[in-house]
Amino acid sequence: MYVCLCNGFTDRDVKSAIATGISAVPDVYHSLGAAPQCAKCSVHIRDIIHEEKARKSFAVSAE
Ligand code: FES
Repeated sequence: MYVCLCNGFTDRDVKSAIATGISAVPDVYHSLGAAPQCAKCSVHIRDIIHEEKARKSFAVSAE
């Protein structure tokens, strides 16, 4: 699913960036070679970061 229409990146792209250790919205744009334009997607990127952190935390606690 597209997260950022201005730059054309998807939730998969954001998750791939997060998997490299990125945990801040500006770093996600940077790692994808993009820059915020309208910035409407920043809330969605932040939500994905939080979801991925929660998922990782759950996976670690379930081990
Ligand atoms: Fe991402 Fe506009 S939708 S900068």
